[in-house]
Amino acid sequence: MTDDRRLRILMFDSGTGGLTVARAVADALPNADLIYAADNGGFPYGAWAEEPLVERLLVLMAALIERGRPDVVVVACNTASTIAIWRLRERFPSMPFVGTVPAIKPAAALSKTGLIGVLATPGTVRREYTRALIETYASHCTVFLHGAEGLAAMAEGKLYGITPDPKALRREIRPAFRKRDGRLTDTVVLGCTHYPLLLEELAKAAPWPVTFLDPAPAIARRVVQVVAEKGRQPGALNGAARPGSVLLTARPANQNVLEAYARAGYPDHEVLAMA
Ligand code: DGL
Repeated sequence: MTDDRRLRILMFDSGTGGLTVARAVADALPNADLIYAADNGGFPYGAWAEEPLVERLLVLMAALIERGRPDVVVVACNTASTIAIWRLRERFPSMPFVGTVPAIKPAAALSKTGLIGVLATPGTVRREYTRALIETYASHCTVFLHGAEGLAAMAEGKLYGITPDPKALRREIRPAFRKRDGRLTDTVVLGCTHYPLLLEELAKAAPWPVTFLDPAPAIARRVVQVVAEKGRQPGALNGAARPGSVLLTARPANQNVLEAYARAGYPDHEVLAMA
């Protein structure tokens, strides 16, 4: 069989956060076709209980794979990956999934003071998986894990034209910044793909300078590896979503949402009928 179609990658998040990862993937694989999927009807994932979220992800992913016909799926969402990536792999065994989990291992290698802050959604902070990452890779450090209630929504808002309130932003991140025996937090993991959208604001709100770790480049490298390992079996694409489309689960509340996706390279949109 001749491989005459381009690689298709489905990028998935609860909202616009995955765009930070999609950009890195597009840079790493400029010849790939990207389709972006956002469960805007389920946003924010950080507030969901675990089992209903897993159930939703399994149902939704079946619809997205059917519509997107991807060769690879990138779950560009820590909150979804830390609870469901292995369930997705089990349910869709022939589909390669690349997940996103808090960059605790690189943070532990980078930190000089041994004090690391992790900003993530309340869901990601509760996960066994996140605790295990800390135990495995950062047991020699002190890790301040903070579930930020409103940070993902602030990042979404920024993309829609709402300026984040600096005071509220400072409150959201403050618990990740600590002092111990004259040492300060020097590395802060952005454990939610929405947060790099606020990088400038975060740097301004930080009580002292730190390195913010955005996992997007590492995820893009992993996608390149997975693509190289996979050996594709291109199938027919009749009726599949067009590249550069965004697949949504609810009609967006305002036009700015669609404009934000168009600016990011996804000018077409489609609202999926959710079972
Ligand atoms: N962007 C998502 C993440 O990486 C979560 C945002 C949310 O839906 O709460 O965790």
